[in-house]
Amino acid sequence: MDAQVGRQAYARPRTLVKWSDQLCENDGLGRQAFSFRVLRRNNKWVAFWSIGFLRVSFAKQGDAMSGRLTGKTAFITAAGQGMGKAAALAFAREGATVWATDLKPGPLAELAGVAGITTRQLDATDEQAIARLAAEVGAVDVLLNCAGYVHHGNILDCTPRDWDFSMNVNVRSMYLVTRALLPGMLAKKGGSIINMASIASSIKGLPNRLVYGTSKAAVIGLTKAIAADYVKQGIRCNAVCPGTIDTPSLADRINALPDPVQARKDFIARQPMGRLGTVEDMVPLFVYLASDESTFATGTTFSVDGGMTI
Ligand SMILES: NC(=O)c1ccc[n+]([C@@H]2O[C@H](COP(=O)([O-])OP(=O)(O)OC[C@H]3O[C@@H](n4cnc5c(N)ncnc54)[C@H](O)[C@@H]3O)[C@@H](O)[C@H]2O)c1
Repeated sequence: MDAQVGRQAYARPRTLVKWSDQLCENDGLGRQAFSFRVLRRNNKWVAFWSIGFLRVSFAKQGDAMSGRLTGKTAFITAAGQGMGKAAALAFAREGATVWATDLKPGPLAELAGVAGITTRQLDATDEQAIARLAAEVGAVDVLLNCAGYVHHGNILDCTPRDWDFSMNVNVRSMYLVTRALLPGMLAKKGGSIINMASIASSIKGLPNRLVYGTSKAAVIGLTKAIAADYVKQGIRCNAVCPGTIDTPSLADRINALPDPVQARKDFIARQPMGRLGTVEDMVPLFVYLASDESTFATGTTFSVDGGMTI
């Protein structure tokens, strides 16, 4: 699915790849009174009719995004797969300069050749490594804190070691990466921080998500605290709360359960819309929060959950 995302939906825009023969008439002032043009953009055909000064264009639905992040630099943790990867491709497609980082270098290879994307291996819990990379990257406009880990179990299943590991990956990583990149945003007098929380948090209690739900509730608290501290300095900080999204780690979690077929049915059953979410369901929200379209939004949570919290 991700490969398809990379090839099609989030391919970098290519304008004016092909022009049709133009049917032109000069109106006597050196202008074309009428022309018809077809061009290929994002693998979709777009037609333009020009009549005098009036230009009418028609594009197939879904071809609307382009250039919304032009001039911005975005930094993403956990961009190797799932929602982080989809966000990296979408940000680049919208014209951003993207630093895509992940703990595992392997999955980043697919992003390495994409125009606008620079990849770096980064453990988002490693303070020294974060400092080194922050110095290389310089000031960014957008930070997507996406790194997270799902521990399966209740309080009796969750050992102190499990607790520390989850809180470290899910919360402390965001504290560390934000702390490293915020000074650059302050120098620019602007920035958008997007923290990946979850419906399983202060929003909703879910079975077997003890430390996960606790950590994601902390992410929401962290988000609001940062938003409150920097609202007057042009920094916005928001949390995204997905429902169950079909990503590689979800597949791993399902396959690790005793009855994977039933487990998938159970995950779907808790989604009132009767289906799992996809990364494509989430990407428009990431782009909105990264862009200047969301300049009045800060300190809040954005749930995209298929109706889990109706
Ligand atoms: N998939 C869902 O249903 C769902 C729902 C709500 C929230 N989330 C959250 O969204 C985020 C992304 O999840 P996903 O399912 O899209 O992707 P995923 O879980 O499939 O991939 C996670 C990525 O994080 C990377 N990673 C793990 N530890 C890291 C670390 N210490 N430093 C840097 N990278 C690290 C992994 O290498 C992997 O590439 C997570 O924070 C997750 O908790 C996911």
